[in-house]
Amino acid sequence: MIPIEASAPAKVILFGEHAVVYGQPAIAVPVSSLRATATARPGDHTGLRIVASNLNQTTVIDSLSQSIDDALALTARLLLQRLDAPIPNLEITLRSQIPVASGLGSGAAITTALARALVEALDAKLDTAELNAIVYEVEKLHHGTPSGIDNTVIVYEQPVYFIRGNPIEHIHIAEPFTLLIADTGKPGLTRIAVGDVRTLYESQRERIQPMLDDIGNIVRRARQSIETGSIEQLGPLMSRNHALLQELTVSSPELDVLVQAALKAGAAGAKMSGGGRGGNMIALVSPESAETVSSALRSAGAVRVIETRVAPLPND
Ligand code: MEV
Repeated sequence: MIPIEASAPAKVILFGEHAVVYGQPAIAVPVSSLRATATARPGDHTGLRIVASNLNQTTVIDSLSQSIDDALALTARLLLQRLDAPIPNLEITLRSQIPVASGLGSGAAITTALARALVEALDAKLDTAELNAIVYEVEKLHHGTPSGIDNTVIVYEQPVYFIRGNPIEHIHIAEPFTLLIADTGKPGLTRIAVGDVRTLYESQRERIQPMLDDIGNIVRRARQSIETGSIEQLGPLMSRNHALLQELTVSSPELDVLVQAALKAGAAGAKMSGGGRGGNMIALVSPESAETVSSALRSAGAVRVIETRVAPLPND
């Protein structure tokens, strides 16, 4: 068997994080330039060895090991169960360019890459919806009851307009646009942030529900702007979405500093992205302002700035 390689991209949420947990729509896009990769080779031990090379960690799955509280082991076991396959003698090495705990979907991308490599190495078939369901199961281990947007955008590797529990809607990008993704260097605290919004929602529903509705309206307008190529409308929508996320208490001083720095340097809009309290923010820039905004973000404390172009899919 020649080595088999499979991969999955990072993602960013453009609009609607947190509100999506309460049934509002959200928009997310894949970041195909940042990837998690899984390489499968025949193993020289009995059982399946999964080597997470970034973490220097090896997970062994054989007839004796039972651990399912580990995301890698859970992925392999769910998949083998679904395929009705015995534990293969394989070594799968995982590598990832996606920073962890930063709101870019590192966990879901690693799970997806691992599952794809395993399916291919077993010469099996699994459709995308089934793979998505397995990745969602594994996401629950990290995030409690996630909305499912992260695994969906990563598994399908297409821009999505996502409403929890509804069939997936792909979104057409009429005009390409450029985003900078800047990392605060502070780990994102998705699980805690989601829990804190839940507490707010339960205790002050009459104040929080209109905020979630406002976010939903922003997302619907953003979709229209993206699908009609009215990119100039996106910046103000991003900034309004950020203000609502601040009110929901999920931003952080570091995220707010980066958002302000991006706007001051000429970004058309900026907001935190993902679970918040740390992790990444995004800024909408023109090709001319990208360099200036990027260096302003670094000066304001960003530990990493990635430029990504959101463009129509081939044949779209
Ligand atoms: C996390 O990437 C997105 C959140 O909306 C949580 C979720 O959708 O499960 C904060």
